Amino acid sequence: MKKILIIGGGAMGSAFAIPCLENNHKVTITEPYSKTFIRNLSSKNKFHSALKINLSKKLKFRKFSNDLLKENFDLIVIALSLSGIDFIGKQFKNLKIKSPILVLTKGLKYEKKNKKIWTISEQLNKNYNVSNISVLKGPCLAKELARKKQTSVVIANKNIKIAKSIGKIISTKYYLTEYSKDVIGIEVCSAIKNIYSMIIGAGQSLNSSSNLFQKSILEMKYLIKYFKGDDETISGLAGVGDLYVSAAGGRNSRMGSYLGRGFTFKLAKKRFMPNDTVEGEQLAREIAPFIMRKIDKKKIPLMILLLKAILKNKKLKIN
Ligand SMILES: NC(=O)c1ccc[n+]([C@@H]2O[C@H](COP(=O)([O-])OP(=O)(O)OC[C@H]3O[C@@H](n4cnc5c(N)ncnc54)[C@H](O)[C@@H]3O)[C@@H](O)[C@H]2O)c1
Repeated sequence: MKKILIIGGGAMGSAFAIPCLENNHKVTITEPYSKTFIRNLSSKNKFHSALKINLSKKLKFRKFSNDLLKENFDLIVIALSLSGIDFIGKQFKNLKIKSPILVLTKGLKYEKKNKKIWTISEQLNKNYNVSNISVLKGPCLAKELARKKQTSVVIANKNIKIAKSIGKIISTKYYLTEYSKDVIGIEVCSAIKNIYSMIIGAGQSLNSSSNLFQKSILEMKYLIKYFKGDDETISGLAGVGDLYVSAAGGRNSRMGSYLGRGFTFKLAKKRFMPNDTVEGEQLAREIAPFIMRKIDKKKIPLMILLLKAILKNKKLKIN
């Protein structure tokens, strides 16, 4: 039995607790930010408002505190949104955490100071001295995992033994883990698929979306190589696997479909998705200053069209 701490009681963090509990680990979840999730997790029946299920009574909720982080855990899982990464990095830096860390968060960060794009593991490592980081990515709708639908993900660490030892702790019959040494490639793929699923969603027929899918893969391949990942990672779970699930039915592709129909981003957001977070839009704004200046625009024409449409709030002319 291992001691696992999950930081982030949103949809993904809470769903992730389910296979861990199934393997009889002692699982604690903590929530540093959202009052709704704190209420959900500390309630008697543990009804989770995003997952729409009652979580197991065995899942222990603890208030977020430095004392909690300082305790000895066999695994600490970060399941916060991208906006929570700086916050958690700062906490970790001061505490000199030694437990292995597993990051579920997807995204990239533009480091203004160095004019570089960093993955989340780079950010945690270089800005906050956090070491022993593995990342877990791939096609996973939290609601489906929470209902124990078969889900396959990939764990990446340059030291594949560490990735495998984490897989042994968390995998079940329905939560299957693959492994990779390509940490950068896996992180870049799992972030930029949010932008490409918007592009694919902008296709106004299956035929045009399929064409955009194929062109998106070529651009993703170019970008993975640019960021020094392994371009083979694109054909794995964090690449085409995650792109499929996002293009088939996520919030990014829904926003893409409005853009493809001629709405500007702001109008589509206000009229159709006022309360939804569109991760692809957030990422587009984050990485645009770097992409527009440093990358050969001819190699990634679809990405450039989408960035311009979002940043300038102009119609997306993709079809
Ligand atoms: N690795 C995977 O298999 C996988 C699968 C699905 C989603 N995800 C990723 O997991 C992350 C969380 O997704 P989710 O579906 O649980 O989202 P969610 O909105 O349900 O939960 C977001 C979590 O981040 C916290 N948060 C938000 N803003 C914060 C801030 N400013 N400071 C601190 N904490 C903050 C929230 O309180 C909550 O705990 C996303 O990056 C998503 O892409 C990963």
